[in-house]
Amino acid sequence: QTSLRLGIAGLGTVGAGVIKIVRQKANVLAQRSGRKVEIVAVSARNRDKDRGVALSDYAWEDDPVALATRDDVDVFVELMGGSDGPAKAATEAALKAGKDVVTANKAMLAHHGQELAELAEANGAVLRFEAAVAGGIPIIKSLTEGLAGNDIERIMGVMNGTCNYILTRMEDAGLSYEDAFAEADGLGYLEADPNLDVGGIDAGHKLSLLSSIAFGTQVNFDGVELEGIGCVTIEDITQAADMGYRIKLLGVTRLTGRGLEQTMTPCLVPATSPLGQLQGGTNMVVVEGDQVGQVVLRGAGAGEGPTASAVMGDVMDIARGLRMSTFGQPATSLVAAKPAKATVA
Ligand code: HSE
Repeated sequence: QTSLRLGIAGLGTVGAGVIKIVRQKANVLAQRSGRKVEIVAVSARNRDKDRGVALSDYAWEDDPVALATRDDVDVFVELMGGSDGPAKAATEAALKAGKDVVTANKAMLAHHGQELAELAEANGAVLRFEAAVAGGIPIIKSLTEGLAGNDIERIMGVMNGTCNYILTRMEDAGLSYEDAFAEADGLGYLEADPNLDVGGIDAGHKLSLLSSIAFGTQVNFDGVELEGIGCVTIEDITQAADMGYRIKLLGVTRLTGRGLEQTMTPCLVPATSPLGQLQGGTNMVVVEGDQVGQVVLRGAGAGEGPTASAVMGDVMDIARGLRMSTFGQPATSLVAAKPAKATVA
């Protein structure tokens, strides 16, 4: 069989991680998918930056749209980020050209996932985004494949590692919010716009994608009730601890008779529960299915290896010939769910 040819746009940590996997695991990837996976072309803002990976084997494109539509690219791997702008333009161009797209871009999908998924379908292309939600945790595959026989009753999760890091540093080291924030900043955890993290927006993007996949509804980010962690004080943390609780930026989504209820807010969780024990920059997703009961997935929500791992999972599915939409059903069949006013449980 011919090889599966990738064009990668965006060579930050995740892009470099994908290149390393493709280079270092070429043989095993070919064995597992029955098809050689190779990178043919790349694109990024800065060609000369040292990324710790050699780019000389790949064609270079300054323009991601040109990369996305190259004749020799089968799969456009979008790792630029940003909800609009070049990432969206190149993704649309790829889909219109019938290329499959693998992306880690939660902001773009939270705002434009529906139209992009419909564009993919109209052009016989596949749009996959495992890496957009909870980094290395294969939550989307779990929902669309392993748990496909269930009605999903509820999903809960900690989906922003930076917020979890800040909150656990406040709890464990007694740091103020400001000091914990500064520490996270020093470690390079924060998004370019920190409000995406601490405002709960990044986690809200991820929750809106999971809701759509779990309940067969259209992505409705505007329907997420959002509150960030900026209001959490050390007194809140201490009081919660005295009562046996910890504070987590917790996402909850469920489909009720009144509509889709999605919240991403600081919540009290029992300190001894799996969510309560989640430390540092880790993510956790708890799925409740009518047949399986509760399933808990925990893992790294960010970083080079974990995010590249999720990107490669999608690439490998495409290499194996899987043509399933990430939403687990055709985008055109997703229903517009009315947002329910959330009730505090
Ligand atoms: N800023 C995100 C986080 C990165 O802290 O979880 C992964 O999406």
